[in-house]
Amino acid sequence: MNFEMQGPMGARTLINGREVDYFAGCGYLGLQNHPVVREAAVAALQEYGLANSGGYGGNHPVYQRLETAVTTYFQTNSLLYYASGYLGNSLLAQGLSARYDQIFIDEDAHYSVWDGARTAGKPIHAYRHVDAGHVAELCQEKLREGERPLLMTDGVFPVSGEIAPLPALLNAVEPFGGLLAVDDAHATGVLRPHGWGTQAYFGIQSDNIFTCHTMSKALGAYGGFIIGNELLIEEIKANSNVHEGASRPPMPAAAAATAALNLLHKDDSLRQQLQQNVKQARAGIRQFGWDLPDSPVPILCLADRGFLDLAQIQADLFAQDILIAYSTHYTSVPDGGALRIAIFATHTADQIDRLVTTLKSVL
Ligand SMILES: Cc1ncc(COP(=O)(O)O)c(C=O)c1O
Repeated sequence: MNFEMQGPMGARTLINGREVDYFAGCGYLGLQNHPVVREAAVAALQEYGLANSGGYGGNHPVYQRLETAVTTYFQTNSLLYYASGYLGNSLLAQGLSARYDQIFIDEDAHYSVWDGARTAGKPIHAYRHVDAGHVAELCQEKLREGERPLLMTDGVFPVSGEIAPLPALLNAVEPFGGLLAVDDAHATGVLRPHGWGTQAYFGIQSDNIFTCHTMSKALGAYGGFIIGNELLIEEIKANSNVHEGASRPPMPAAAAATAALNLLHKDDSLRQQLQQNVKQARAGIRQFGWDLPDSPVPILCLADRGFLDLAQIQADLFAQDILIAYSTHYTSVPDGGALRIAIFATHTADQIDRLVTTLKSVL
């Protein structure tokens, strides 16, 4: 079945001409259609137009305001903002290239992590999904005397919703002087504390973890970003091509991201509401016997059990005006496919109850 969104992205929207409760996509905080975010984009468009075509516009006040919003929110001091979250992994793989010799990558990492790894032109080895023991074995086997590994992984996997075990992965590469590059597209703005991402979620203090983020999911806007101290950002700029070679996201997107981050910095209630909604949805689905982990991730993955027709379940829910995703081929989809339910801060308790009871009735 083909689905086409025809309304604004949100907890309730128009799909194929029908108003539905929307539990797909990645707008976890519901910011894509937040009035403050929309107005900021409109104001920037009216004042400055769409884009500044690169050239001398890199330091434009719109981007400076974004830098202030990002560095305030993440309590850091420098920002690299680029054309799309997808490119963050190339920036890390190329930008850190002086610090490592071979890449070790989760076999189920996102397309962007794989593509980014390939741009570095270094040997690449895939390790078994989230298996830190296998990382250690591979490092032992593949690295020559004095060589250092770069491990590349998603922080939160987009369909399975698993959180990569960063402490164990770091332990596996650190004896070899290794680094971690983490794509936090689905963790940024979501995980406790403060929505800073997977490293903060695990409370790891380490100079050996580097993260790329996106504005396009929980943060409701567009563009990828890497944060850190000025030396790190300068190193990445100097050693990678994307920063030099690609335009930045359009100014309305930067203004929208600025508004979203300022809003979240002042008030954490959307993120807290998201956590409450995630708890409600997970508990409800667990009650009818589905073994979902107790996790703060707003992606609930109902993997194939052999005897269920997942496509039919999706269609039956849609017949009752509820849309969830059914994935067979995306990265991190468990064997046999999975239903993927995305929870937003803007879903009401009634919407989540209806999801749970309808799902139970169609199973
Ligand atoms: C893990 C991961 N990284 C990167 C991206 C790309 O981010 P963007 O859409 O902001 O380019 C996605 C998008 O789906 C993703 O799931």
